[in-house]
Amino acid sequence: MSKPVILTAPRVSSSLHIGNYFGALLPMIDMAKNHGNDYQINLFIADLHGITTPIDYTLMPSIIQSYLRTFVAAGFPLDNPDLHIYRQSFIPAHSELAWILDCFTSMGEMNRMTQFKDKSVKLSEERVSVGLFGYPVLMAADILLYNANYVPVGDDQTQHLEFTRDIAERINKRFADRFPEGIFTIPYNVKKQHEFFGKDQGLRIRDLQDPAKKMSKSDETGKGVIFMNDDPDAAAKKVMSATTDSVGSIHYDYATQPGISNLLEIYALLAAQPIVEVAAEWEGKTSYGELKSAVADQVRLFLTKFQANLANVDDTKIQAKLQSSEAAMNHIANETLLRAQKAVGLR
Ligand code: TRP
Repeated sequence: MSKPVILTAPRVSSSLHIGNYFGALLPMIDMAKNHGNDYQINLFIADLHGITTPIDYTLMPSIIQSYLRTFVAAGFPLDNPDLHIYRQSFIPAHSELAWILDCFTSMGEMNRMTQFKDKSVKLSEERVSVGLFGYPVLMAADILLYNANYVPVGDDQTQHLEFTRDIAERINKRFADRFPEGIFTIPYNVKKQHEFFGKDQGLRIRDLQDPAKKMSKSDETGKGVIFMNDDPDAAAKKVMSATTDSVGSIHYDYATQPGISNLLEIYALLAAQPIVEVAAEWEGKTSYGELKSAVADQVRLFLTKFQANLANVDDTKIQAKLQSSEAAMNHIANETLLRAQKAVGLR
């Protein structure tokens, strides 16, 4: 029978940073490498979500290509037919199902979405699009089209997963008389997702300049963000000018020393060392400069290696994989879409 489906996507915005890489991409790619025979894994590019907020449209194609290349440089196996990479907008069913789901979604439900509130306050009123408002509905379509069971959810996405479950249940119930076996597969709840993906799932590296907030692609200055395509020396400099505190000694404690704790966290990830070990090693030391230099060295080393891998990625192989994945995904997505269209009387 068909394998359980794991699905996730980065939303297209600017370049990927180390928070995206270690928090979202690498765990999924490790899953693909180690469990690629037990699951169907869909890692797609959320390009339609990318245009919900202002973006330089002329850069979209190169950003999308760089995300795909990053998947491959990070080790995504292109030769396993159960592992799929695809572009959301190349599967028209995403938009079509989103429209149908829109018609079963209340304004009140969307008004309660905290990510919408967070994102819209950063924009002037006329730039807050209906697309941004309906973002979670498109995300629900992304998940439901492929009967996905597992979706890794960081804290900012839990509400969206809950909404996906709600709307799927609502529609299944509404049409249960004619579709007793259900129209949609309900993805597992947030608790189960956390059990499945492990405790590091949803991990959030903080901004180097403002360690109160997470590292974000949409940060305006980029000073506190280490992008995967940063010049390694420039990135090392960003580490050296990271915000710390006036405590005067090193303790791994986000409540009192968020900047220092974030540096320890980054060190642990880059050196592939458990955070408890790294924290113990630095505990009580007094030279913040030494810690920064150590992290800066790791950053330089990591980016240099990664960028060398990136330069070796074969774009023609990516293109071939997109073709086959997108053909296969259109097939699956259209089957789900057709059930929904039949339910509401469009087919
Ligand atoms: N909303 C997700 C984010 O901003 C991106 C996304 C779009 C997604 N569709 C998805 C994630 C479906 C998981 C499943 O990170």
